[in-house]
Amino acid sequence: MKKTFDANARALPHVQDLHAYVPGEQPQGEGWIKLNTNENPYPPSPRVAEAVSAEVAQLPRYPEPVSEQLRTVIAERFGLTAQNVIIGNGSDNILDLITRCYVCAKGAGHTVPSYSLYPVVAGMSGKGMIDVPFSRSMELDVEAMVAINAPVFFLTSPNAPTGVAFSLTAIEAVLQRIDGILVVDEAYVDFGGETAVALLQDYENLVVVRTFSKSYALAGMRVGFGLASAAIIGMLDRVRDAYNVDRIAQVAAQAAFEDIEYFESQRQKVITTRASTLTQLDRLGWFTYASAANFLFTEPQNGAGESGAAVAASLFEHLKQAHVLVRYFPAHPLTCSFIRVSIGTDAEMEAFLIAVTSWLNHA
Ligand SMILES: Cc1ncc(COP(=O)(O)O)c(C=O)c1O
Repeated sequence: MKKTFDANARALPHVQDLHAYVPGEQPQGEGWIKLNTNENPYPPSPRVAEAVSAEVAQLPRYPEPVSEQLRTVIAERFGLTAQNVIIGNGSDNILDLITRCYVCAKGAGHTVPSYSLYPVVAGMSGKGMIDVPFSRSMELDVEAMVAINAPVFFLTSPNAPTGVAFSLTAIEAVLQRIDGILVVDEAYVDFGGETAVALLQDYENLVVVRTFSKSYALAGMRVGFGLASAAIIGMLDRVRDAYNVDRIAQVAAQAAFEDIEYFESQRQKVITTRASTLTQLDRLGWFTYASAANFLFTEPQNGAGESGAAVAASLFEHLKQAHVLVRYFPAHPLTCSFIRVSIGTDAEMEAFLIAVTSWLNHA
């Protein structure tokens, strides 16, 4: 007789209640213009392919467990020591390590809207979130961030999905006044905004999180890193999987990181295309937040000059029919009348704008 097992009922209560993170669509077929998950439209540095193929012969061996070499080159670039750096299987891994170490039953703080993975990561540890809502201006509410007194506060700067970057003055004001850890998630900072790295020397309660997925064009490789005091890094290392970053990922990230010239030129291309795309959206009269990231968060208006959730949803669907994927966040009043468009190549942005024009002519 078949033995049954109620996998749902037997899971821990917080896992039963968990909703898995829903990433942006990753269509597998050809012919899509993919502007929905803030990836880099350009290939990574050619040095990545060389480093990866040279490493293949080493694959029978386990990777170096702490990614020491990568920690060292990153530390040197930021004027830190390897003890101030931890490497993750994507920056999502770093966010999880921080949560495992420091988020108590009270839950973690975050601004709303921001990166929707934070609640998922907290939920996996059986913890909740304390919301600090934005208003439409998207300015940081320092008082509210301080008032919730969270053990860990996740701040995305530049923010997602808006692209709005926060000033170092505001970030420092938070650091001075909170008792817990401030995590500044700088996934997009290479495209604009001020980095909080310089504040690490004065604030032991700061963790800066970065990723290779966006500006280094390595989303498929899954490498991110955290910068913090040696004491915090030491704690994160205690809960890290022994081999959390594979051999190929370690050498690929290092090769991309060290090819500064290539990095600079690709970064500048994205910034230039962002500016030209914004000019086009401005011409349409759409409101778009000032973006320091590799995406634009814009509020479409239809041919009749109307905006709102139905208008944004209609554009999203029209673009999808045209095989142009952007991101739509219908669940929140501050996001439901907007779409988020990742910055692709000039040709991809042109195709996006052509599809927008055809929507305007039909909507
Ligand atoms: C704000 C923010 N942080 C972190 C990440 C995840 O980066 P990674 O690919 O390094 O896990 C993303 C990805 O979209 C993001 O938007």
